[in-house]
Amino acid sequence: MSWAPAKDAGAFLQGLAAFMTDPVRPSRRGLLALFGAGATLSSTPVLAQDKLSTAVFTHGVACGDPTPSGLLLWTRAVGEGGEIRLAWEVATDEGFVKIIRSGVATTGPARDYTCKVEVEGLKPGATYHYRFRSADAVSRVGRGRTLPAKGVKAARLAVVSCSHYGFGYFNAYRAIADLTSPIDAVVHLGDYIYEYGVDGYGGAESKILGRQHQPAHEIVTLADYRQRFAQYRTDPDLQDLHARAAFITIWDDHETANNAWMGGSPAHDEKTEGAWEARRDAAIQAYFEWLPMRDPPAGQPRHALNRVYDYGDLVSLIVIETRLTGRTKAPSASRDMIRDAAGRPDPVRFEKEVLDAPQRSMMGARQEAWLDQALTASVKRGAAWQMLANQVIVARMRAPDFMSLLPKDLLDDALTRPGAKRWLESTRLGLPINLDAWDGYSAARLRLYDTVRKTKANLAVLTGDTHMFWGNRLHDPRDETPVGVEFGVGSITSPGGYETISPDPRIYAVAEKALVDRNPDVRFAHARDHGFLLVEIGRQAITCDYFKVANIAVRGGSAERFCRISATRAGAMTVTPTSA
Ligand SMILES: [Fe+2]
Repeated sequence: MSWAPAKDAGAFLQGLAAFMTDPVRPSRRGLLALFGAGATLSSTPVLAQDKLSTAVFTHGVACGDPTPSGLLLWTRAVGEGGEIRLAWEVATDEGFVKIIRSGVATTGPARDYTCKVEVEGLKPGATYHYRFRSADAVSRVGRGRTLPAKGVKAARLAVVSCSHYGFGYFNAYRAIADLTSPIDAVVHLGDYIYEYGVDGYGGAESKILGRQHQPAHEIVTLADYRQRFAQYRTDPDLQDLHARAAFITIWDDHETANNAWMGGSPAHDEKTEGAWEARRDAAIQAYFEWLPMRDPPAGQPRHALNRVYDYGDLVSLIVIETRLTGRTKAPSASRDMIRDAAGRPDPVRFEKEVLDAPQRSMMGARQEAWLDQALTASVKRGAAWQMLANQVIVARMRAPDFMSLLPKDLLDDALTRPGAKRWLESTRLGLPINLDAWDGYSAARLRLYDTVRKTKANLAVLTGDTHMFWGNRLHDPRDETPVGVEFGVGSITSPGGYETISPDPRIYAVAEKALVDRNPDVRFAHARDHGFLLVEIGRQAITCDYFKVANIAVRGGSAERFCRISATRAGAMTVTPTSA
């Protein structure tokens, strides 16, 4: 979901919201080889060429989920028959002169011909090249880095989110793929795919660009989700980025359905679309088939995507799962609003009695305890930073009163449109903007802050979801003590939403200034443009560069930095717009 007044059937609408119209056959050997106990195939000798299957590589290669000694390799190979046998090779050089690991992996229709290999026995902090072979084809070459073990002075992550195929070209992916400087990994914070059909969010734009969703309907079944992933992965810019670096991924809502929570989605209708659990499980299955991530360890539910990546003693990148594990249903400012005897909304009581309710959960008790342990362990072993890869905004963000802030001509024009009118009028209540974000789960946020303060963690948060860029200084609302920083990444393509309030570009500057002025946590807001973050983590400071692409309406074009935000361990945050 997005955050601003987007057309994202729910985005902003769902939050403040509420005031607007809510709007094959299985191959047993293949399965066992890939997902049986010890699916690692790292030291299996390569079979003779004639034992490999005839197959074509249809969607490039990928790797991800790095450890100090391993990488998860991925490809997709389609051929005749049930089981496809492929060889894989890992080398220290691009020309594959020094092949240091190789083996055979199998796949088949039971997993949509996607193939995952867990390679072990690699060196920490090293770059490797990999490829796959069938009897008659060789895949492209991919590369990726293992996690460093010690002596790490700096780590560099590219951070992305919200890549709707139909809204535009993935030029931001291209810009990262073309970086000449090294990156340790690409962190994708979710909305890697969108679930809508061609008549849903982004449908009109996708028709103009010739990038309409496949299948044409909203995806619900396993076959649907697979087809959607397959479509996204035909994109050459995305394929090149996957081949360029290891990915660390987490889903947000659109990998299942809009504003998903553990028991459903406001966009899911069990009467017409079947049981939520079936849809959720289909979405998760396709996700693990198509993305280079290991399944959760035995004993964990399959939706437990939370895990820790330690970059030596520099930073623990802690990936949390805030959709399907323990999230309770988001509150709604229309459905749950408390009203006085005259029917007028009482936003103060609504906040106190609904938003602040202690039973509201974002991660679930089990994951909260796991996070406590992860932070404790990271601090104990001396890591300079504890960084969360998180989906929805943590910072407190109240709606500025746009009715009094918009220039008169913009306001008069906006009020002629019913959706914009309802939304603008709702901003008078001063409520948090997005109740699907941590603002709708304030007791859970307090528990998070309690854990951060108790463990003395040096907290930095990476956040997606909003289709806007942010630099936030997080404060505990009970005493305004600083508890960390948050870097919010805009989207690869999905729109921010303010353009639905006014087509006049002045709207952006007004909104950005108002959001910063209104909210003590918000130091920087950027409501336009698409792009990515480059986060450089040093022992004393994190430097986050904000990049935007020139356009998404045609493939290609430049990317340029428009802001740099530095955060020191001592607590200072410096925002430097590039033009300044
Ligand atoms: Fe999104």
